[in-house]
Amino acid sequence: MSQGKRVGIVGAGNVGATVAYSLVMLGACHEVILRDNKIDVARGKALDMSQAASAVRSHTVVKVAEEMSDLINCDVVVITAGSPRLPGMSRDDLLMINAKITKEVIQGVAKYSPDAIIIMVSNPLDAMTYVALKESGFDRSRVIGMAGILDSSRMAAFIQEKLGYGGGQIRASVMGGHGDDMVPLPRYSTVAGVPLSDVLTDAEIEEIVERTRKGGAEIVGHLKTGSAYYAPAKSTAIMVNAILKDTKQIYPCAVCLEGEYGFSDVVSGVPVMIGANGAEKILEVTLNKQEKEMFENSCKSVQGLIDTLNKNKFFEEK
Ligand code: 2OP
Repeated sequence: MSQGKRVGIVGAGNVGATVAYSLVMLGACHEVILRDNKIDVARGKALDMSQAASAVRSHTVVKVAEEMSDLINCDVVVITAGSPRLPGMSRDDLLMINAKITKEVIQGVAKYSPDAIIIMVSNPLDAMTYVALKESGFDRSRVIGMAGILDSSRMAAFIQEKLGYGGGQIRASVMGGHGDDMVPLPRYSTVAGVPLSDVLTDAEIEEIVERTRKGGAEIVGHLKTGSAYYAPAKSTAIMVNAILKDTKQIYPCAVCLEGEYGFSDVVSGVPVMIGANGAEKILEVTLNKQEKEMFENSCKSVQGLIDTLNKNKFFEEK
């Protein structure tokens, strides 16, 4: 009997559960397996989604991994597990806490789903993708971070809002890390093929760039007790679907650079061709002096986080 595709999701919070829901609605795979320490929450959401699957006549089955060992032979594993930043916690504290969670989860994934492609969603995204790469021992093509699709979708939505037209026809481009120094690229953004600079003023474009950089925080400001999840989850589901269907489409994703853009051993967001083997090709875009400087700054921030992990001997502790 041929085996259907199986997607594991670690962390059944708002993002993880919404990724699962998207995949179920798409009928993207045979099985979605939810794993969460709050096992009853995972059980409840899995039941609820199975019933939604029946409603739309989707064949996708939603199950719960009672133990990490139930997350077996997955084709793709999405990692959304992590702690939010709590009062009194520094960025470095959060980095160390989520790095430890990621390490533990990834060791389980590498053991039980050794052929999987890992999609990292936990923050700080680029550093966690680096941790997942090092702890899994997988080839860099099989450890990919989700952020660029989200950030460029945010930019596209802001362009549409500013213009008042063009919905669904806007291609916005964002590179670099998923942080305040991400690199929105208006020069590579278009509305139905028309360059952004032909339809918006410099000041309007600058406003959109700034809003994109702070796009996550804007939503936290409204929600107060949590962060965005519809767009992060949909962006993740798009990556899962591209892998399962081997679409070979180009998306901005976080991968470990090995010489591309002049950087090595650091994770950053770049255009990547996604297919059955994960990140199958990294595209090198021509950047002008200013864009290059912004990209370098962004890589340096991520490098700073990796340096903090090294300083704390994170990769030496087993
Ligand atoms: C976001 O950008 C929190 O990274 C998440 O919404």
